[in-house]
Parts: sequence; C-alpha cells; structure tokens
Amino acid sequence: MALRVSRKIYREILNKRVFSTPLLTARHCSSSAQTAPNIPHSAKKGRILTGATIGLVIAGGAYVSTVDEATFCAIINRCGFNGEGIVAVAKRLGAQHAKRKLDETSRNSSSPTDEAKHKGKAGPGILGVNLGKNKTSEDAAADYVQGVHTLSQYADYLVINVSSPNTPGLRMLQGRKQLEDLVKKVQAARDEMQWGEEGPLPLLVKIAPDLSKEDLEDIAAVALALCLDGLIISNTTVSRPDPVSKNPVAREVGGLSGKPLFNLSTNILKEMYVLTKGKIPLIGCGGVSSGGDACQKIRAGATLVQLYTAFGYGGPALIPQIKAELAECLERDGFKSITEAVGVDCR
Ligand SMILES: Cc1cc2nc3c(=O)[nH]c(=O)nc-3n(C[C@H](O)[C@H](O)[C@H](O)COP(=O)(O)O)c2cc1C
Repeated sequence: MALRVSRKIYREILNKRVFSTPLLTARHCSSSAQTAPNIPHSAKKGRILTGATIGLVIAGGAYVSTVDEATFCAIINRCGFNGEGIVAVAKRLGAQHAKRKLDETSRNSSSPTDEAKHKGKAGPGILGVNLGKNKTSEDAAADYVQGVHTLSQYADYLVINVSSPNTPGLRMLQGRKQLEDLVKKVQAARDEMQWGEEGPLPLLVKIAPDLSKEDLEDIAAVALALCLDGLIISNTTVSRPDPVSKNPVAREVGGLSGKPLFNLSTNILKEMYVLTKGKIPLIGCGGVSSGGDACQKIRAGATLVQLYTAFGYGGPALIPQIKAELAECLERDGFKSITEAVGVDCR
C-alpha cells in the first residue's frame, strides 16, 4: 500500500495536482546510496528526496570539489560517478527496503500517518534513482537498462542522467537520435517488468544547461513524442558565468553548480517550458538557495524545484526557510497556489 501511495503522490505532483511543497532535495547521498534512506525532511507530503546517483562501476579517480563558499556559494566538481557500483547500491537499498517492511509488519499499523512517513520504497521519503553510464561502456543503453532491471524495485521514479559533464561521451546522448534510442530502450526495459495497478515507474531525463536552441528543440521533440514523465533542468555547467569567470577557481575542470548557475539554468527551463507547451512536467534545478529563487523557477515553468549546492552550505534548516519564503513570494505575487504560478513568466 505504501508503495502505491508513494508513486501516486509522485504522479500527482508531476501532474500539478498536489502543490503543498514543491521542494526536492537533490542530495545525491554519494553515488552508492549510503545515506539515501536516512535523510530527514522527507516525511511530509510534498517533501521529496531524490536518491542516489548511480555510477554503474567504481569510477574512482578524480573526486575533487573546489568550493569557494564565501564569494560564490558555488562548487566545481569532477566526481565522474565515483561509487561502489550498482550491486552495492542494490544491496543497500534492498536492505533498507526489507527493514522497513519488517518494521511495518511488526508495528502492524498501516495508518495513513505511517504511509506518509515511509513513502519511499527503500526508506522514508520518495526515492528517485539517477542512472548513469560507465565511463568505458561501448553500449551506454545497456548500462541504463541494467540500472532499470536492478534498481526499479527500490525506486519511486527513475532519472536518465545524460548531462553530467564528468563522464566522457555522456552528454552526447542528448542528441535527438541518441536520446530517442536511449529513452525507447529504457522505457521498453521498464515496461517489460511487472507493475502493479499504478503502472510503470515514472521516467525522467536530466539535461545540461549548456545546450543550444536546436539541442533544446530536439530534446523537447523527443520528450513529447515519447511521453516522458518529466525533465530535470538542469545539471551543472561547464561554462563559467560571471563573476566566477574572473576568479582563479574558474580554471578548475568540472561542472559548476550553485548560485552562478541560477540564471543560465532558469533561462533553459523557460525555453523548455515554451518548447514543450507546458505538457511535460519540469523540475527546476540550478542555483536555488532561497524561496525567491524557488519562486522564479516555478514562474519559469517548474512544477517542482530541486537544490543541491545550497543544501550543502545551508543544511536541513534551509528547507523550511525556503518554504516559508516561497509562500511569502507567492502571496506577494497574488497567487493562491503554486499551480497558478507555473510558467507565468513564459506567457
Ligand atoms: C558534488 C556533486 C555531485 C553531483 N553528482 C551528480 C550526479 O551524480 N548525477 C546528477 O544527475 N547530478 C549530479 N550533480 C548535479 C546536481 O544534482 C544539480 O543538478 C546541480 O548541482 C545544480 O543544482 P545546484 O546548483 O542546486 O547544486 C552533482 C552536483 C555536485 C555539486
């Protein structure tokens, strides 16, 4: 029952029927999902935790983040999906899943309150599993398909990550033909699995902010044609927007996240909202650190908002703060609900 509730709520949120709290914490919990099930701020309706980012093998190597907190609230990372690999992730999520089931059985109470506390299949909150490809893979789709087969049972939604800048060749998968082929294969793998009455797991694609108008048009066309459940916009940028460009850290290799990414990712979000005519749910991500930022993402077309870097700086206390600020912003702008505000800056 809890599983059905979680997916239902996710779909409702994506379809704009639920709007109590549009915040997702893009806390990646390391690529091995070590901490995925234990994060607070995931128990209430609308607070959604996105889960581990999955490198399919131990990518190792360049795990270096350059942080310039005082000036920019930004990070340049070149992690490259370092992690213990998919088997370790499956084991951990499986163990959490089993423990939760056991707890539920021993309490023998499946009251709505308990369900709300345990929406995620592998622990509290809603758990999104972010799939990547191996650095050395020749058949990228096979890696994503393996991810679907191995981890779907623990996830509430899946993300096809084709936008991390630190894995060679990954971003090429955003090309029209490549993306179409990949999504079709991943959807087929998902659809071949056995699903309950709620139907298959929602499937989203996460894109980069460093895309041309033509790239965005291609992605929008694929998303519409293949009825994607959502797009996450965006991952980190390989560009170095001002004022970062003038700082010595700008020379560091890797993806830039945090405040300097805000404008770039919000502009891409707006373009995608227009291109998809508001028909594909969009998750706004990139540089969000306040309720005002979250409000701008929503006005630019986001149904949900995600943050990572600011959460690292601000910690869990940031979430209720952003929610309170967001409520003020919406009221100030005369909106009675988040739904009303979605995409208004694109009209
Ligand atoms: C250290 C670090 C690791 C990340 N790893 C992943 C990843 O594995 N998969 C992914 O889709 N995004 C990853 N991201 C990108 C974030 O999820 C997010 O899209 C990006 O940082 C922009 O949001 P922010 O400005 O709120 O951080 C990572 C970001 C950072 C800083």
